[in-house]
Amino acid sequence: MQGTESNADRGSWNSKLGFILAAAGSAVGLGNIWAFPSKVANNGGAAFILVYIFCCFMIGYPVMAAEMAIGRKSGKSPVGAFKSLIPGNPFFPLVGMWGVICGFMILAFYNVVAGWTASYIFEEIFTFTGDLSLAAVFADTNNGVKNAAFAIFFMVASVGIVTGGVSGGIERSNKIMMPTLVLILVVLAGYVATLPGAADGLRVYLVPDLSKITPQLIFAALGQSFFSLSLGMGCMITYGSYLNKKQNIPNSAIWVTSSDFSIAFIAGLLVIPAMYVAQGSGITIYDEAGKLIGGGTLVFSVLPTLFHQMPPVIGLIVGVLFFLLLSIAALTSTISLLEVPTSYLIDEHNWSRNKASIAMGAAILSVSMVIAFKPALVDTFAMIFNDIGLPLGGLFISLFVGYFWTITAAKGELSKGHPDFENSWFAKLWPVFIKYISPVLIAGVLGASIYQLIL
Ligand code: PHE
Repeated sequence: MQGTESNADRGSWNSKLGFILAAAGSAVGLGNIWAFPSKVANNGGAAFILVYIFCCFMIGYPVMAAEMAIGRKSGKSPVGAFKSLIPGNPFFPLVGMWGVICGFMILAFYNVVAGWTASYIFEEIFTFTGDLSLAAVFADTNNGVKNAAFAIFFMVASVGIVTGGVSGGIERSNKIMMPTLVLILVVLAGYVATLPGAADGLRVYLVPDLSKITPQLIFAALGQSFFSLSLGMGCMITYGSYLNKKQNIPNSAIWVTSSDFSIAFIAGLLVIPAMYVAQGSGITIYDEAGKLIGGGTLVFSVLPTLFHQMPPVIGLIVGVLFFLLLSIAALTSTISLLEVPTSYLIDEHNWSRNKASIAMGAAILSVSMVIAFKPALVDTFAMIFNDIGLPLGGLFISLFVGYFWTITAAKGELSKGHPDFENSWFAKLWPVFIKYISPVLIAGVLGASIYQLIL
């Protein structure tokens, strides 16, 4: 009876496209639109993008396929998945637990940043109506009470969708939200390209200066790729656990990876040129050292300037749509972040979906409340749980698949739903990437960076 109950609460995806959209919805979020452009600016423009592409496709993509395979084979979220694939191993369930903790902590700060995006919808409206003091309240990322209110709003929305279950809640909402998001982003990027000053931004964004590739840039690109692709904490294990055997995993994972990369790329195509357009109206975009200013408030400072200079009604529509788009993108990611700790309670402790998501939501929200009043913590949390935590998880997932669960077992799972698996390039290359390339590169980059941080 218990089994039936938890199965009903686990759920499954209704369609092939539904899964891809939900996984892409998890991947596409603040990581693409808020974090990526600012990392590009901080790390010297196009050179960052080159390293980032490498991280996404050579490290991220193989790990994503591995996570989905682990999830589908075990039918479990991370802790249970590791337990069931090699029973008795005491270490890997801890890796799963680390994933649950990263999901918890990332969501705690993500909620606050998501709240900033939603509050900028009101900033745009009040700027348009001329209520400038009200607009300033909504624009203030340091206003604790306002931050807290919006973080609560986001958590309630995420809990609402996650309690709705896998196909009804998560899948249905993503099907509508994802395509809308892409459409609005492309239109805006196209518009910005026509404005004076945009050409300078496009040059910085598209013409790489290879001398800018530093160890720090590589560390930033690796962490950003894991964060943006939702990897290293078992999110794709969890989403994979709702998959049926007909889905082609290598194929789905390449769709998710390339759409996530493309959307980040388009977001940069919007934000970086917009910085140069804003410079034309007196906004400072370089620091004293002559470096582009990135940072957590970049999109919130540069883009509204752009919107406010548009003809009144158009500016209002574009500004509101943009921040609405960001909020939507954030919501499809917060639900996946919440799903990981929630499904842990459902799978490992037999909680009902309602009880699990409400309890986890409340616990995470209590940490969000601290961050709401001390927003500088966002950077600290991002450093520990994204930049270090996620690649670390990815390292152990690669080692797990390559050396413990075994490549043969993983290939057995990956071949299901793939008509000509044995002859595919994927079947030949993936084992090499997951066994050698990904663990060596992740360990190298993490090791070097932690060494530098400590010294
Ligand atoms: N990928 C999401 C984004 O880019 C964030 C996320 C990270 C979601 C990890 C789930 C797991 O915004």
